[in-house]
Amino acid sequence: MVERQRLLADLDIHTATTPNAITSTSPIDGAILGGVARTADVDDTAARAVAAFGLLGAMPMPRRGQLVRELGDAFRAHKRALGELITLEVGKIRSEAEGEVQEIVDVCDHACGLSRTIGGAVWASERPDHRLVERWHPLGPVLCITAFNFPAAVWGWNAALALVCGDPIVWKPSLKAPLTAAACLRIARNVLARHGTDDAVQGLFVDDDIAEGCVRDRRYALVSATGSTRMGRRVNALVAERFGRALLELGGNNAAVVLDDADLDLAARAVVFGAFGTAGQRCTSTRRLLVQRGVAASFIARVTALTQGLPIGDPTDEATLVGPLIDDDAVAAFARALARVPQEGGTLLCGGLRAGRSVAPAIARMPRTARLVHEETFGPLLHVIEIDDVNDAIAVVNDSDHGLSSCIFTRDLRAAERFQDGADTGICNVNTGTSGAEIGGAFGGEKDTGGGRESGSDSWKQYMRRQTSAVNYGDGLPLAQGVRFSAARR
Ligand code: UN1
Repeated sequence: MVERQRLLADLDIHTATTPNAITSTSPIDGAILGGVARTADVDDTAARAVAAFGLLGAMPMPRRGQLVRELGDAFRAHKRALGELITLEVGKIRSEAEGEVQEIVDVCDHACGLSRTIGGAVWASERPDHRLVERWHPLGPVLCITAFNFPAAVWGWNAALALVCGDPIVWKPSLKAPLTAAACLRIARNVLARHGTDDAVQGLFVDDDIAEGCVRDRRYALVSATGSTRMGRRVNALVAERFGRALLELGGNNAAVVLDDADLDLAARAVVFGAFGTAGQRCTSTRRLLVQRGVAASFIARVTALTQGLPIGDPTDEATLVGPLIDDDAVAAFARALARVPQEGGTLLCGGLRAGRSVAPAIARMPRTARLVHEETFGPLLHVIEIDDVNDAIAVVNDSDHGLSSCIFTRDLRAAERFQDGADTGICNVNTGTSGAEIGGAFGGEKDTGGGRESGSDSWKQYMRRQTSAVNYGDGLPLAQGVRFSAARR
């Protein structure tokens, strides 16, 4: 208890004690960690973001690069403490929790680099003495909605890009992880204060109905939302209605394919981390294992044995690899899914409920047509399906409403390329798992995953407004397409 208080003090978070505060409960032992005050005036938050846009947008981009570099340094300095808090608040093991902070640091480095490299295209104009260019301008305030499972990193991806692009960011975190959000905001606002732009980063601690009003608010040029497909569908519709921009990163039903010729030892370790790392609570978690018939029996036995050996329990303990699920609802959803396994023609090979929020990772052999296999159970449940060959694997991978991540394990170059051509997922890996993406690539997926791309590559484009500009540096006024219009003749 004293340790926990010390941690909150180190991170300079003052927990709210008002009856209306949002309470944070640890999934580890159900203890109350603290409370965060609800945002009283959401209109004021948006107005401050608009005011901050005036300041930030006017700053030269390399100066904004300096700002995100300092932000990255501040998160580097708080990596350990923030990691500890993430473990306490959402139950991730320590290395994963610190890895999440590392993602913020990495994306800040990435954004700093962008600040000196973002350019605009120059096109060949069809008119003499004309230049046709593309310019990129700051877009406006960003509303960022995040889920409990990545209570820091996903905001970090959005914040670093938004800030370097000149956009203030207002963060509506999951109310299951308010303290992590409060700590990140504190760190970020301290950095921003040095640049006189504190309000370029703000929090929005509100319930869903109030958040919905903010999603409708035209002052938010971009709404970047991570979470369930249900939530994303709603956000998408509300934002489309006002012609705003939505960036969606929703659920996944990610498949790992293992062909007969794969390095089975490597594949087994990757599948176990993919399925059961973060207790299966990543949107990129491996939910389906598609294994070719020739190695199916031995590979499934190997994965099951590894899974049964996973140390489950208290995530603050260095030896633990699988922490608890986030809350009782998550445990109930996991239990319901397990109960459906036999009802839908499957066989449970291992796993099940334990005490409290701690559950044992489960593996179930399932018919490919089972409904359960087509749903995202946000927990440690891996469905196993046998496949004939790479073409069959592609068909099963794509037989999903989601399209986030997939991977294949094989030594056959042709099969790997064929798979990447055929899989309709935003991320498609070879000889490594479905989860644990680096920030350098674009992150996101197709279909019910929402179509958005966050973090690396050219994702920054979504945080900026594109302008096409024709510049005439001649004396004449030649018209495009050779159009003649006498009044325009000299
Ligand atoms: C998420 O689960 O919402 O690729 C994000 C990964 C992490 C991000 C996951 N870098 O697993």
